[in-house]
Amino acid sequence: MGVEGDFQAVVLAAGKGTRMRSELPKVLHEVLGLPMISHVTRAARAAGATRVVAVLGHGIERVEAWLASSEPKGGYAVAEQREQLGTGHAVWVAADALRGGAAHTLVLYGDVPNLTAESMQDFVRDALEAQVPLAVMTAEVDDPTGYGRMLRGEDGGIAGIVEHRDATEAQRAINEINAGIYLMRTDFMLAELEKLMGEATENAQGEYYLTDLVERAAKAGGALGWVIQDHAEIQGVNTRVDLATATATARARTNEAWMRRGVTMIDPSQVLIEPDVEFGSDVILYPGVTLRGRSVIGDGVVIEPGCWVQNSTIATDAHIKANSYMDQAEVGARTAIGPMAHLRPGSSIGADCKVGNFVEVKKARLEDGAKAGHLTYLGDAHVGAGANVGAGTITCNYDGTSKHKTEIGAGAFIGSNTALVAPVSVADGAYVAAGSTITDAVPSGALAVARGRQKNIEGWVERSKKS
Ligand code: UD1
Ligand code: MG
Repeated sequence: MGVEGDFQAVVLAAGKGTRMRSELPKVLHEVLGLPMISHVTRAARAAGATRVVAVLGHGIERVEAWLASSEPKGGYAVAEQREQLGTGHAVWVAADALRGGAAHTLVLYGDVPNLTAESMQDFVRDALEAQVPLAVMTAEVDDPTGYGRMLRGEDGGIAGIVEHRDATEAQRAINEINAGIYLMRTDFMLAELEKLMGEATENAQGEYYLTDLVERAAKAGGALGWVIQDHAEIQGVNTRVDLATATATARARTNEAWMRRGVTMIDPSQVLIEPDVEFGSDVILYPGVTLRGRSVIGDGVVIEPGCWVQNSTIATDAHIKANSYMDQAEVGARTAIGPMAHLRPGSSIGADCKVGNFVEVKKARLEDGAKAGHLTYLGDAHVGAGANVGAGTITCNYDGTSKHKTEIGAGAFIGSNTALVAPVSVADGAYVAAGSTITDAVPSGALAVARGRQKNIEGWVERSKKS
């Protein structure tokens, strides 16, 4: 056994989640863009768990693949539960992975995404202090239907748990429920589970109940009941309705934390911020803003309604106007984006730039002070500092087979409705006349005009009316 006071976590996540009505394993459904199981493993690690053992069954391949790609190497293990024979059985299948680990084991559910690291820590601390073989997290709720009920003795101490389906009418009236989260001495837990597995199941579901260990602990040395105040933390997800509730909880908590750290939200109920987003100070977020992935939002940034920002970095005092969308983009200081701009992966916009309405950028760098104000596509392009790209300019970057690059020099001027047929370049300071289709390099100092010359046919209107 490990150091006294250390704890490992076991996350039960083998259930099918039938009521989700989904092809996706339940614990991979996302809350704020992160699979539920990852909320649990992250919180467990943040609370100090030495390692995490995930018990998987339904959809094990997909869940395991996700864990392999997202969990720290060596920080977790997987145990397979082929048949879901109950919560006691689920922990038992992880016995080999748990034995020889930390002295205590924290039992968590993969479909309870909002239990915070702080609550886990408080629970573990109080449980260790009580020096009991088992502590169980409970809650007092208005409607205990479906949950296991806490049975307390004359002295108020925990005596056991009875499942809803096994409970008498009188027991069903108890409104203190089992949250399903435990801290147990690992040796006690494994020894008792081994006994339990050797016995016939004697309950309505014919399952091996982990809850049976509570009564055994009460007899063996005491069981601690630890009441959590915020019920939202222990809400389980069984349906997509629950998933929305859990998301609302996570969103409200995240938003409150950021507001307390200096982010203004006009209406926080309409702002969605994923867990890995970071902010500078004095950011203002309007309703309908979604900030995803590893986005970094700098000091003084304003993001107007309806914007979607994913894995993007926005520098100091930039202004993202309404209904803009960006993914894997960088926006420089004091730059204005939108309204209704689209920055696709590889967009890198410098400082003091302007990317206006209906402008799409992909894999393109705009140097400081460059402007593309209206109705433009810049793909596979480099736009020099201070260049002005007129309305309706299109980089024709694709010839049907491969992509080619467009180079627009510093201070260049591209007239409206220009097609730049890549590969092509416009030198520093060069001009392109409106309506041109540019296929050859434009040298420095030149004005390129590449369009049919205008011809006015005198008297044409009069003649056509007569005929
Ligand atoms: C369990 C508790 C109940 C408690 C409730 C809190 C038992 C017997 N009952 O009930 O007292 O009030 O949680 O939500 O423990 N799982 C497995 N393998 C299994 C069975 C379950 O991995 O064989 C996982 C599920 O995927 C889920 C979690 O364990 O994440 C809880 O299972 P669930 O069936 O929801 O527990 P309940 O029967 O609702
Ligand atoms: Mg069940």
